[in-house]
Amino acid sequence: MPVTTADLAAWKQRRERFVMLTAYDALTARVLDEAGVPLLLVGDSLGNNVLGYDTTIPVTMEESLTFTAAVARGARNAMVVGDLPFGSYQASAAEAVRNAARLVKVGANAVKLEGGRRSAKAVRKMTEAGIPVMGHLGFTPQSANAFGRRVVRGRGDEGDELLADALALQEAGCFAVVLEAIPAELGARVTEALDVATIGIGAGPGCDGQVLVITDLLGLTPDPTPRFVKRYADLRSTIAEAATRFAKDVAEGHYPGPEHQYH
Ligand code: KIV
Repeated sequence: MPVTTADLAAWKQRRERFVMLTAYDALTARVLDEAGVPLLLVGDSLGNNVLGYDTTIPVTMEESLTFTAAVARGARNAMVVGDLPFGSYQASAAEAVRNAARLVKVGANAVKLEGGRRSAKAVRKMTEAGIPVMGHLGFTPQSANAFGRRVVRGRGDEGDELLADALALQEAGCFAVVLEAIPAELGARVTEALDVATIGIGAGPGCDGQVLVITDLLGLTPDPTPRFVKRYADLRSTIAEAATRFAKDVAEGHYPGPEHQYH
């Protein structure tokens, strides 16, 4: 049975920790789904990780739709969360609803957007339209130009502001809130204060769930990676080694062998 927002509410209540991973294609989505990953985020991090942009800011609605549709085709049980890219929801709540609905039409079960109180009106309109919404606070990459070099957010007085933003998102109807690059103590404080689930990425162990970008988890992203990244595989080396062995086999006449030939 597909994962729903009610499942997240139950996990929060039972203090059962869960994970979310990003996915950008159908094949990976199917593997993660079969591995039991309950939430697949088609993050606008597809900009850096798939499309070769320096940031998430250039990602378009069309790109988000294409990759969300691909992941939705690969997923069976996981909840697919489509990311609203920069510029697709800030102008008005009406535009936010229109673009969120487009993501739902291609297979998203929920959408994610960045920002707290400034995004609350859009969240309310989307939830009223029947679209589950995930918030995103802390270091929100779509605001990278405004943030400058300081990545960790929520230190000092900023912590109270972030908590107010989280409460506003909950009040507006968000079913979960991603917390990125904030002090671990603040991650725990926001998690305690909210009835809805928090999903941390660099927000400490006190969050209800944890999310990682799949290319970071698999060791595909080159150094340097953010402090919160833990690599669970070394695909960079695996891919390079496979390609080198292939080239060597061809050069030495070992590939294609008899078993790879048609007659
Ligand atoms: O786009 C993304 O991958 C994200 C995660 C880092 C939460 O927003």
